[in-house]
Amino acid sequence: TSKQRLLVVANRLPVSAVRHGEDSWQLEMSVGGLVTALLGVKEFDTRWIGWAGVNVPDEIGQKALAKALDEKRCIPVFLDEEVVHQYYNGYCNNILWPLFHYIGLPQEDRLATTRSFQSQFDAYKKANQLFADVVNEHYEEGDVVWCHDYHLMFLPKCLKELNSKMKVGWFLHTPFPSSEIHRMLPSRLELLRSVLAADLVGFHTYDYARHFVSACTRILGLEGTPEGVEDQGKLTRIAAFPVGIDSERFIKALELPEVQDHMKVLKQRFAGRKVMLGVDRLDMIKGIPQKILAFEKFLEENPNWRNKVVLLQIAVPTRTDVPEYQKLTSQVHEIVGRINGRFGSLTAVPIHHLDRSLDFHELCALYAVTDVALVTSLRDGMNLVSYEYVACQESKKGVLILSEFAGAAQSLGAGAILVNPWNVTEVASSIGYALNMPADEREKRHHHNFKHVISHTAQEWASTFVSCELNVTIVEAQLR
Ligand code: UDP
Ligand code: G6P
Repeated sequence: TSKQRLLVVANRLPVSAVRHGEDSWQLEMSVGGLVTALLGVKEFDTRWIGWAGVNVPDEIGQKALAKALDEKRCIPVFLDEEVVHQYYNGYCNNILWPLFHYIGLPQEDRLATTRSFQSQFDAYKKANQLFADVVNEHYEEGDVVWCHDYHLMFLPKCLKELNSKMKVGWFLHTPFPSSEIHRMLPSRLELLRSVLAADLVGFHTYDYARHFVSACTRILGLEGTPEGVEDQGKLTRIAAFPVGIDSERFIKALELPEVQDHMKVLKQRFAGRKVMLGVDRLDMIKGIPQKILAFEKFLEENPNWRNKVVLLQIAVPTRTDVPEYQKLTSQVHEIVGRINGRFGSLTAVPIHHLDRSLDFHELCALYAVTDVALVTSLRDGMNLVSYEYVACQESKKGVLILSEFAGAAQSLGAGAILVNPWNVTEVASSIGYALNMPADEREKRHHHNFKHVISHTAQEWASTFVSCELNVTIVEAQLR
């Protein structure tokens, strides 16, 4: 039998394009948990539909890019600069993202945001309609359509309007906040109604699903049932589908000669010191300043550790056209500079901060050789970095310090040291605890989490979601 066709629709394609000439494009891997999760999806005949991360105003460029992307089974949605500004930088990343992570609207331009709200929401709807048109163009009967994330909450409705028989699923990669937060959005009704047009709606955790159902109850007055939400006889199934990673890809990578080489270099470089690792997009939800301040407190209180431990922070630049992200970058640089000035010596500094991404092999090597991983997200849908660290620690059995506000705390909580990232004292003492942890405790904790990571994979996540989406539709068809 042939494989089920799957159309994955996400704002971000797995590759982003860089232009090198009138009709020549270079494709680079995109960064983020959504892409990592979806790269693990293998058992379907998959096509990706999304934005390639660049503005391509000319037809020659568009044709050439579509062709280059086609080799990766990707189909571009072209968005012009103004739409990207209002939809991606504005509505998605300046409004929905901070709100869904309980950060609230950006302080300084709250009024400006309030004023531009309507035009940004209009651009959001327009962009979603453009995605829908491309999906519709490539849709074949029997396809499963799977929409992803907060950029595309309006998409299920657009798709059902174009073709009511289309099987449509929607999955949110961020938290869904308490209905008390969601109800602040002027567009609260439209967003919920549109998501409910899908056949199946998925979240990382049970809590997020419950928040969504209660938003539907309080804001739309709809009844929640154990399966989902019902509106005039139509049931939208709602459930938790915690994502995982393609753990084998990481475990196998550790055997590769180039990864082994990286590991050797890193071990020599940091010989005699314990190494703590942070890997995050440079995003305010990751609690990077909080993490660094906790590390400072640890150094302050433990003079004997000062030359024996280093924090490696990989901070991948992200959404750099949004002012809040620019502010965060300079804030983090300021703190790192101050602490390195305070505790550094002529030959060493306590914090290595890199504003760049790493390639997959470098990243695996870092995961494998470091002693402690520090994940201090203030809120995080899941956080796959914590999964990846565990996958790469089979020989070293390093310690994971993990924020209780990351979705991953619900699955890796048993083996990790859970912390409240806002409590600098608690994080500082957890750092001490982790660095001093005896081998048998490290082993026990690691084993717990490793078992989970290798048995809850991205492949399994996707096939559960898709088969659930297919079954939902079959059941509905039988009822009619
Ligand atoms: N990542 C990457 N290159 C880097 C650093 C990170 O590709 O230089 C990947 C990392 O492997 C992980 C993803 O980015 O899969 C981050 O996902 P996570 O769920 O932790 O957070 P998100 O970025 O989605 O908020
Ligand atoms: C998070 C979001 C994804 C997004 C990623 C990277 O993981 O859930 O939808 O793709 O961050 O952000 P970007 O804005 O670069 O796509």
